[in-house]
Amino acid sequence: MAYDDLSDADTAVARRETASSSTTVLVSRRESFNAAHQLRDPGLSDEDNQRLFGKCANLHGHNYVVEVVVAGEIGLTTGYVLDLKQLSDVICRVIIQDVDHRNLNTDVAWLEGLIPTAENLAMAFWERVRPELPEGSLRSLRLWETDKNWAEVRDHD
Ligand code: NI
Repeated sequence: MAYDDLSDADTAVARRETASSSTTVLVSRRESFNAAHQLRDPGLSDEDNQRLFGKCANLHGHNYVVEVVVAGEIGLTTGYVLDLKQLSDVICRVIIQDVDHRNLNTDVAWLEGLIPTAENLAMAFWERVRPELPEGSLRSLRLWETDKNWAEVRDHD
């Protein structure tokens, strides 16, 4: 449809749709926790675990950082994509309170059966955060295990 065929109201809608389809606003919140883990497959011998995971097979701790990125439109009344206090509350309620100062191999029911690599933890955290946020708004979740290592989960788009 050519712009000549549109009424003023239709033109306004068309402009808004153009803007929203080409522009995305991202907001993000970080939270941190401390936890212990060991990279160990309980189905393998100690020797095989040492061979696979090296010293990471021994119990040790990390100061983890979780960063959650949410995409959306800026609300007309709030000026927010999402209130970051609300995002912080979600991250703390569904992740941090369960994992902080815990042993990730033994203390967290929803991590049972997982080797707690950064990749597996990031995926498990993603699955817990996503249903708590407005549909389709979760863009990525990144977990830093150290300041040099991170794993990230994101939607395909
Ligand atoms: Ni580690």
